[in-house]
Amino acid sequence: MPLNIAIDGPAGAGKSTIAKLIAKKKNLIYVDTGAMYRAVALYILRQKTDLDDADAVASACREADITIRYEEGVQVVYLNGENVNAFLRTEEVGNTASKTSANPAVREHLLNLQRKLAKENDCIMDGRDIGTVVLPEAQLKVFLTASSDVRAKRRFDELVAKGEAADFEKIKADIEKRDYQDMHREIAPLKQAEDARLVDTSDMSIEEVVDTICNMI
Ligand code: DC
Repeated sequence: MPLNIAIDGPAGAGKSTIAKLIAKKKNLIYVDTGAMYRAVALYILRQKTDLDDADAVASACREADITIRYEEGVQVVYLNGENVNAFLRTEEVGNTASKTSANPAVREHLLNLQRKLAKENDCIMDGRDIGTVVLPEAQLKVFLTASSDVRAKRRFDELVAKGEAADFEKIKADIEKRDYQDMHREIAPLKQAEDARLVDTSDMSIEEVVDTICNMI
């Protein structure tokens, strides 16, 4: 059975940064499930589907064929054959993904793809429901979190470093709104699995978090 590590936690906790570094260190593939939800959200945005119409979202998502390839160790998401990695990391796509991922048809659409990747590869997979729903048998589950102030500050610094406009209070409010949506949806809400280990990264450096989880492995 391949080694499966599940990393769950709220937006901005550092899941992808940490998971990528651990993947490199331990020779695992890194499966970013948020990117899959973002690709579906991108399709829905491009189709101008009404986000409040659950049936329309469900039928649009079935037209979105998502495939994952690993090119030079990097996960590349294809949406109906197009490499969409460059379009996935915007606030608009992230906020839309938080909404559309509450739709049961969207979750079902991506679940098999996620499980297939984990069955065929030693992997570290991050998301919101990996330890609770996608990979309940994962050998290690980590719930990675940090206070909303710290998460907003990290995002703020990232935008400033890129020379983009950033409003700390707005970023924090968006993060708290996404936390609420991700934790309160009916299907597969964000929560710590009973057998997951909690790592609060608020006062930890990236290296400390990586070392902590590598020691758990
Ligand atoms: O991790 P991220 O910011 O790229 O995720 C974008 C949105 O996708 C997030 O707000 C909720 C959703 N998501 C989910 O519902 N389940 C997952 N396993 C991963 C992401």
